[in-house]
Amino acid sequence: MELNTKSDDLLIGVVGGGAMGQGIVQVSLEGGMKVVLFDAKPESANHAKDLIFGRLERNVEKGRLEKNVLENIKQNLILAKDFSEFKKCDVVIEAVFEDIEVKLDVFKEIENWVAPNCIIASNTSSLPIASLGRYCEHQNRFAGLHFFNPVPLMRLVEVIKGPSTDDWVIEGLTNLGKRMGRTPVVVRDAPGFLVNTGGRAFTTEALHILHEGVANPAEVDAVMRDCAHFRMGPFELMDLTGVDINYPASLIMHEQNSYDPRIRTVPYHKSLFDAGRFGRKTGQGNYRYNSDGEMIDAPSPDYEVKGEGAEKIVLLSEHDIFSDIFAGCNMTASDDDISPIVVSLLGTDCATFASINQLDHRRLVAIDTTGDLSRRVTLMTSPGSNLENLDAVAGLICNNGRKVTAIKDSPGFISQRIRAMIGNLGCEMANIQLASPEDIDLAMRLGLNYPMGPLEIIDDLGVKDAFGIMQTMQEITGDDRYRPSPWLRRRALLGLSAYTSA
Ligand SMILES: NC(=O)c1ccc[n+]([C@@H]2O[C@H](COP(=O)([O-])OP(=O)(O)OC[C@H]3O[C@@H](n4cnc5c(N)ncnc54)[C@H](O)[C@@H]3O)[C@@H](O)[C@H]2O)c1
Repeated sequence: MELNTKSDDLLIGVVGGGAMGQGIVQVSLEGGMKVVLFDAKPESANHAKDLIFGRLERNVEKGRLEKNVLENIKQNLILAKDFSEFKKCDVVIEAVFEDIEVKLDVFKEIENWVAPNCIIASNTSSLPIASLGRYCEHQNRFAGLHFFNPVPLMRLVEVIKGPSTDDWVIEGLTNLGKRMGRTPVVVRDAPGFLVNTGGRAFTTEALHILHEGVANPAEVDAVMRDCAHFRMGPFELMDLTGVDINYPASLIMHEQNSYDPRIRTVPYHKSLFDAGRFGRKTGQGNYRYNSDGEMIDAPSPDYEVKGEGAEKIVLLSEHDIFSDIFAGCNMTASDDDISPIVVSLLGTDCATFASINQLDHRRLVAIDTTGDLSRRVTLMTSPGSNLENLDAVAGLICNNGRKVTAIKDSPGFISQRIRAMIGNLGCEMANIQLASPEDIDLAMRLGLNYPMGPLEIIDDLGVKDAFGIMQTMQEITGDDRYRPSPWLRRRALLGLSAYTSA
């Protein structure tokens, strides 16, 4: 069997005319397909039609769509009075409330009318495809087709293969996604599918950094924007999506993934939720907001230099960027017992490094050399450090045109630690064959606007270094949250790229 997605007569059924249903109808119409829309509330279906046509008309005004094409498109949308109008559909996509009972009733209704080779797909964001398809008479034609909100703007669509889904169904939905102008990635049925699982590392690791008192939200966000090129820092993002959404989602994902500590959140997340500090929508979350939704009273993420920049430093590591960052200073490789000792660390903390190497920890200033150091540099000192050394090194870096974020002693700094966690989780997703390494990266870039995919991050950090960071973080913290994925371990041991799949 196959779905002929090139056919001019391809008929798509959509159940539910809410936010997602409207988007799915719009991209189907834009792809030149005929669509039957049914909503339990006829007024919702009418409202959906008005909204879709309104958006398409604006596209005509902006010159993105020909007026005569729009007139044809309008003929292609049928509002159904009941499920019987799905009779001739080639594919029916369900987008009703995220409630398993409601959805199961809908699938029963659909199956009563459609032909046995009509594909039935659910746009569920969190319910397992296995349990949704369980009561279908023909489970082999049942799959997930997970769009992202707002559908017309978000190119990604996850095609979810349930345990009984036939290959021709996956192929058909993939081609259908393309005809809708989307970028499909095929994902195995697993809790949270791909993007919702992969996205856990960014925010939960930031929360762990805060929980341990290493840095505050403004510092973490600034480092992730400036050094790792994320458009938004993790705390800003949590406030935007809403803690009422991301805290329960974190709990569910943690539970459904057999309580894997890699995606565990921290009690502070619950406190925000309990206090109703949901973020922008409530005027307070990780930050405070005014009635226009603008952030107010955010603390500065920048270290404030008090004295002069260092004239001499003991530099124990090498890096191309040091001649620029430390320009104008006398750099020596041997300890003079007076000057700040500067070292680049991977995965370890100052205390561990000073004790192993028998260095004066009071003069030790660690620098994160992973990521982009052209705007901001992260420095870290040990407990009991003589902070004049930090001030001298920070002053020197600021004199050379950069901002400094100074954090407490911890393994992996901020950007290094969060990026390694994102990469490690991506490796684990590849390891359990959730999707291909290329699709994991594609989905994370398109679905979450990440500057790099997780496996790309691992190659960028260096596979061996990324493995070393994870291993050391696990050793120092004793927390299996940081255990390296076997996928990462094997490629690091053999000197291979994170993309190597065979
Ligand atoms: N909103 C998002 O950001 C998002 C993103 C991805 C996936 N999803 C998933 O998409 C689905 C729909 O989400 P939404 O945000 O569009 O919801 P919504 O509440 O905006 O719309 C749901 C629509 O379904 C209709 N409906 C409910 N029961 C029905 C039934 N038995 N028969 C026909 N119509 C029925 C409702 O009248 C309503 O118009 C959910 O499964 C959700 O988890 C949502």
